[in-house]
Amino acid sequence: MSQSILLVEDEELLRESMAELLEEDGFEVVQASNGQAGHDLLLERPFDLVISDIRMPQMDGVELLRRARRIAPETPVMIVTAFGTVDSAVGAMREGAADYLLKPVQFEDLILRVRRALEIDSMRRIVAAQTDQLAEPSTFHNLIGDSPAMRALFEKVRKLSAVRSSVLLFGASGTGKELFARAIHYNGITRDKPFIPVNCGAIPESLIESELFGHRKGAFTGAVRDREGYFEAANTGTLFLDEISTLPMPVQSSLLRVLEERVVVPVGDTKARPVDVRIIAATNRDLAEQCREGTFREDLMYRLDVVRLELPPLRERQQDIPLLVHHFLERFTRDMGKKPIGVTDAAMRAMLNHEWRGNVRELENVIERAVIFADDRHIDVGDLPFGPAETAGADTEPSQCEALREAMSRFERQHIIQMLRRHRYDKAETAEHLGISVSSLYRKLDELDIPKNLDAEDQASSIAT
Ligand SMILES: Nc1ncnc2c1ncn2[C@@H]1O[C@H](COP(=O)(O)OP(=O)(O)OP(=O)(O)O)[C@@H](O)[C@H]1O
Ligand SMILES: [Mg+2]
Repeated sequence: MSQSILLVEDEELLRESMAELLEEDGFEVVQASNGQAGHDLLLERPFDLVISDIRMPQMDGVELLRRARRIAPETPVMIVTAFGTVDSAVGAMREGAADYLLKPVQFEDLILRVRRALEIDSMRRIVAAQTDQLAEPSTFHNLIGDSPAMRALFEKVRKLSAVRSSVLLFGASGTGKELFARAIHYNGITRDKPFIPVNCGAIPESLIESELFGHRKGAFTGAVRDREGYFEAANTGTLFLDEISTLPMPVQSSLLRVLEERVVVPVGDTKARPVDVRIIAATNRDLAEQCREGTFREDLMYRLDVVRLELPPLRERQQDIPLLVHHFLERFTRDMGKKPIGVTDAAMRAMLNHEWRGNVRELENVIERAVIFADDRHIDVGDLPFGPAETAGADTEPSQCEALREAMSRFERQHIIQMLRRHRYDKAETAEHLGISVSSLYRKLDELDIPKNLDAEDQASSIAT
C-alpha cells in the first residue's frame, strides 16, 4: 500500500507539480488549496505525512500545524516556506513540524526530505511501541526479554519450575545462565529451599571433591573439623553447577555416582549420606564436543542434559535491547540516587547495532558507566564506549535541535549559492529574488561563510577542473 500525503498549498501551479512529482515516486497525494480545506481532510481520514505551505488564505500553515498536532499527533507535518520567512519556519519547528522546505522548492530535495520524514516517523513508532511495552515490562523473575526466543524460554522455565529434573543451560558468557537458574529455582516448588551456586571453574582442583561432598576432620592437612559439602547444603533444593565443563575427569566420575545413587560420601568418610538435590548445570562450551575430545564423560552429559535451555546471544535478539537498556537505566539511576534519564535515538541505534560479544553483562556495564558520566543529560553516543560508526545513517536524523539548526544552515547556504549563480552573482537581484534586503544578504554571506567574491572562486575552480 502506498503512503498517503496531504499536500496543502494555495499556489496551484506549484501544488500540481509537487503532487505530480510525489505521485511519480509512488505516493498517494491528496491536495488542498488552503489550511481550512486541509484541516477538513485531516478530520476525515488519516495521512502518513502532511506537507503545508505557511502563508495561505483561510487558516495559515502554522495554525494548520497546531491543529494537526491535536487531530493526528502521530502524523508528521512538513512546512514549506518562502526564503524570507525562515524565522516562521523555525517557529513551526518549535510547534512540532517535522521538517521545513524552502521555496523555490527544489524537487530532488522535496523527495529526499519526504522520505526522510517518513523514515524518522516509522523509527519513532518503533521506539514508541517499545516504550508502550515498558509500561508493562516483559519480566519474568528479573529476566527481561520480549523476543520470541526469550518468551519461549520463559515458558520452559515455568514448566521446569514445577518439576525437579536436571537442566543444562547452554549459552555464551553474559547471556544470563545464572539468572535463568535462579528463575527456575525461585519460580516454583523449590522456592523455599536452598539455592547453592557453585562455580566449578573457580575451585582449585585438589579441593573440588571436599567442597562438593564435604570432608571429615583430619581427612587431609587443613581439614581441622568436619565440613558439609555443597551437596548437603543444597539438600532438598537446587545445586547450580556453573562452568561444568571445567570439572576434572575424576570429579566427573564422583558426581555421576552421586547423581545415580543420590548419596554423598564426604572425603575421609566411609558412610554415605542421602541427598536429594536438583542439579542445574551451565556451560558455555559444547559438552558433546568435549565428549568426542575425551575431556567430558558422555554418561554424565546425558545425566545432566535431561532438559537443555539454549540462551541466544544478545545480538540475535535485538528487540530485547531497548527493554534491557531501560531496565538497567532505571536500576542504576535509582541505585546511584540520580534523576531518571533517557537515551537519545542515536545512542539507542548505536546500541542496537553493537556486536555485544559480552552479551547482557556487557550491556549492563555500558549502561552503568554511561549513567555515572551522563549527569542529568540523556545518554548520547558520546557516553558509549563504541562509536556511532557502526550505526548506518545515524547522522541523517535531525532529532536534536542542534542537528536541525545545522541542517537548516547547510541548506540555506546551498540555496543562496545557487541563487547567486542563477542571478549571475548579482547581489541586488539575488536579494530581491530571495525577498530580503541587500544588507541582509551580506549578513547571510558572513554568517554562512559564503565568499563575497563567489564569481571569482567559481571561475577559478572551473579553470582548475
Ligand atoms: N534477560 C536478562 N534480563 C535482565 N538481566 C539479565 C538478563 N540476562 C542477563 N542479565 C544480567 O546480565 C549479567 C550476566 O548474567 P549471568 O551472570 O546470568 O550470565 P552468565 O550466562 O551466567 O554469564 P557467565 O557465563 O559469564 O557466567 C547479570 O548481571 C544478569 O543480571
Ligand atoms: Mg555465570
